[in-house]
Amino acid sequence: MPRTRFADRLAAARADRAARDALRTRREIEGREGARVLVDGRQLTSFCGNDYLGLGQHLDVVAAMQEAAAWHGVGSTGSPLVTGHHVEHALFEREMAAWLGYERALFFSSGYQANLAVMQSLLEAGDTCVQDKLNHACLIDGARLAGCELKRYPHADVEAAMRQLMTRRDGAAMLATDGVFSMDGDAAPLADLALVARAQDALLYVDDAHGIGVLGPEGRGSLAVAGLGAREVPLLLVPLGKAFGGQGAVLLGSAAIIGHIAETARPYLFSTAPAPAMAAAMRASLKLIRTESWRRAKLASVVMRFRRGASARGLPLQESFTPIQPIVLGENAKALAAARTLEEGGYLVTAIRPPTVPEGQARLRITLSVDHSEADVDGLLVALADAVKPAADPIPA
Ligand SMILES: Cc1ncc(COP(=O)(O)O)c(C=O)c1O
Repeated sequence: MPRTRFADRLAAARADRAARDALRTRREIEGREGARVLVDGRQLTSFCGNDYLGLGQHLDVVAAMQEAAAWHGVGSTGSPLVTGHHVEHALFEREMAAWLGYERALFFSSGYQANLAVMQSLLEAGDTCVQDKLNHACLIDGARLAGCELKRYPHADVEAAMRQLMTRRDGAAMLATDGVFSMDGDAAPLADLALVARAQDALLYVDDAHGIGVLGPEGRGSLAVAGLGAREVPLLLVPLGKAFGGQGAVLLGSAAIIGHIAETARPYLFSTAPAPAMAAAMRASLKLIRTESWRRAKLASVVMRFRRGASARGLPLQESFTPIQPIVLGENAKALAAARTLEEGGYLVTAIRPPTVPEGQARLRITLSVDHSEADVDGLLVALADAVKPAADPIPA
């Protein structure tokens, strides 16, 4: 048998993607001011970013980063266990642990890296990891990397999670879920999952990328809304690329668990630590998240305005009360065509297609932000009504 040539393999894969309307391109953002982005020299209003609270360009956050970069430079110079762990990281980790009520915190370069690290460090062959089918890809990939048995239950089906945990009692078990689902915007049934985890001796791990900052008192996220804390959820991930407006992720847990991960997780050990300036910027974001509750109030009113307007126009809404408001259209071609029409009208909403969402569920993942005005939302709704055929049976706002 002759060797497979990469050139042939890549050409076949690309042709297959083209046939399924699954080709992907990156857009170059030439400038940004809040929700306004400059793309190909044209100003568009973006409804697909994750800067929910508008902190990514906040003067305090930018100034904190500039000052720390002037002091520490732009890089960390090494792995956290060599020379990469700086005082700004340590201060930020302590502030995050105190804020969320955990013993210890660990700052990673990205949420993806953190999830690979958690799974690879805690799980091994013979263990079980039970996950919601709609969990973010990096939780799934992490379990695959760990070599444990991965079981995925139908979305939000607590009884199925229980059954999957019950089928295997040997080895350690982890129950992992998004707090708010990234492509659907709905909340995980955390209180019930906590009961299941306790009954089954499983470690409950919550990735709250889209709940933190946005939900609960002081923006303490999905756990605060569900009345849960470190006892019920021993491990919590807070990615920083969304409401914090920055980059990286903070893992929270007991001193024993976090200590183990910091010493043994290969994605953490063998990677350069994030810039100290990013830690400084995220400390400034944290301060704003805690104190400026008007941002959450404004965001909630933007979300409600969108839902009311979409419902009145018969647009197919999902059961989401978070800033993630998907309009599920089905076929890839349909989502691409709707995104194109929106862009012609001045709105940037990227079409989301498989494998990011299940087959046949391509969508416009509309995200709302403090940066959007009422006029922005009203304008988007008019454009959407033109771009998307109304559903027969709308969900009430
Ligand atoms: C639930 C969830 N976890 C983790 C990530 C990955 O985080 P990061 O972008 O920091 O790698 C994302 C999205 O990016 C996410 O939606």
